[in-house]
Amino acid sequence: MTASIEVHLTPDYLSESLRRDVKEGLTSTPKSLPPKWFYDADGSVLFERITTLPEYYPFRAEREILAARSAEIAATTKAHTLIELGSGSSEKTRLLLDALRDAGTLHDLVPLDVSETALREAADTLAADYPALRVHGVVADFTAHMDQIEGEAPRLVAFLGGTIGNLLPDERARFLSEVGAVLGEGEWLLLGADLVKSPDVLLRAYDDAAGVTAEFNRNVLRVLNRELGADFLVSEFEHVAVWDPEREWIEMRLRAREQMSVTVPALGLDVRFDKGEEMRTEISAKFRREVIERELTAAGFEQTSRWTDAEGRFSLVLARAE
Ligand code: AVJ
Repeated sequence: MTASIEVHLTPDYLSESLRRDVKEGLTSTPKSLPPKWFYDADGSVLFERITTLPEYYPFRAEREILAARSAEIAATTKAHTLIELGSGSSEKTRLLLDALRDAGTLHDLVPLDVSETALREAADTLAADYPALRVHGVVADFTAHMDQIEGEAPRLVAFLGGTIGNLLPDERARFLSEVGAVLGEGEWLLLGADLVKSPDVLLRAYDDAAGVTAEFNRNVLRVLNRELGADFLVSEFEHVAVWDPEREWIEMRLRAREQMSVTVPALGLDVRFDKGEEMRTEISAKFRREVIERELTAAGFEQTSRWTDAEGRFSLVLARAE
């Protein structure tokens, strides 16, 4: 069967939200940009390269847990529908898909992503590889359109990779309660979350020796140059990763090497950067087990199982909607 695709975003939703985000972020003090704009075609390739770096342990740690626990997840959830949020990571989805297929319960696969091209490609490949499944891609923004996910119950929403950590605490609470509200009692959330650990290990994961993360970080400026006609001198910004011990998150920033003036024609904006000024481009929160459990409970879930990799670096939590 071929995949069907449903587009829940108006044609200019993405360009409008990019404009809104950039205008707000560049006119705030301190300046910031939301991490979702990293992922154009080049940014997605750079992220794939990050997942192969020796320092970037979250990808391998989560894959280790999924390889060990997918059969158990399938047996517990008996999911008829798998909804994958921000579906880039097809390699890991396949571990789940294989287990759910072997368990014989799964009928529908719903990958959801903001990028229509990435989604079409992923959905078509999955439809070809899993011919017994109905593959129904949804083009949507999971931070805004969670109410639009469909599929036969019981559904299993998979939010992997630690991407929950890229949301600010208030965004995270809102997102989790939206998922909790959409799911009926007895449906499921599978949540991957990176854990608090030694700052050295964390900083290396976000500032690798080969400089791939630095390029990934700077890529957001290329996106702004292309999409908004901005004139950022990309090489004049230095990649910075900082561990915030109070908020327990990694912050990625771009630091201006010199004083600069940047114009963003699409927004009618002139922005000044002081020499050494830092702009936040991502937070990546790291969790303690109590925090995950408390936040899931607050969102209407009951934590059913919790696993980590052998080294205890990353956690995967299966939670049941109440
Ligand atoms: C996998 C999207 C959650 O925060 O670790 C990798 C992205 N940023 N290196 C993360 C990322 C810098 C990332 N997510």
